[in-house]
Amino acid sequence: MKFFLDTANLDEIRRGVSMGVIDGVTTNPTLIAKEKRPFREHILEICDVVGQGVVNAEVVSTDTEGILNEAREIATWHPNIVVKIPCIPDGVRALSVLSREGIRVNVTLVFSASQALIVAKAGAYFVSPFLGRLDDVSQDGLHLLREIIEIYRAYNFSTQVLAASLRGPLHVVEAAKMGAHIGTMPYKVFEQLFKHPLTDRGLQGFLGDWASAREVLGDVFTPAAARKTGR
Ligand code: E4P
Repeated sequence: MKFFLDTANLDEIRRGVSMGVIDGVTTNPTLIAKEKRPFREHILEICDVVGQGVVNAEVVSTDTEGILNEAREIATWHPNIVVKIPCIPDGVRALSVLSREGIRVNVTLVFSASQALIVAKAGAYFVSPFLGRLDDVSQDGLHLLREIIEIYRAYNFSTQVLAASLRGPLHVVEAAKMGAHIGTMPYKVFEQLFKHPLTDRGLQGFLGDWASAREVLGDVFTPAAARKTGR
């Protein structure tokens, strides 16, 4: 499963990338607006930090012509960019054209299996079902993810399933169990993936025991030169 960070914050992206397991970034107009910087410049800086990874940048037009213009422009900024387009009729119309032109499109704001089916037929590169936002309105986001994966497998669609709006580690684990290609998550959720109180407590115990036997254990982790000079 690929991990994307769902943020436009460069510090968070740098911290995440330094762990060596981040495969890309998703942004949206809300996340970009928070950073208060020119859109193109900011996306290019994200591309720089992410290196080989994919960076998703979203259009803000809602009519086919406007979406096409914005998508074609954004796609020229960097080879690792995937253009995000909302799952509306004008968006699907634009998607059909863009996919024929070879522009990679992530269809976002997907909330039903039928939407996912349509955009796969129209050539989406990624489909982004929003799990957390469905849970927020008392619908089961994971159920939707399961349906999409089942349909895509049945027809061998090449569209990759990008589980989005993930709100906690369980969303990520369940999405991974189903075989979602990608999970995109806020930095906070990414951190929660590898934190465990028993790890912290266990480590504290190990280090405490080590410190109390320090005298007899010797100085094996101090560089030899420093040991000799006593520094
Ligand atoms: C995905 O590309 C979206 O930016 C994102 O996952 C939305 O998540 P939210 O519901 O936490 O805003």
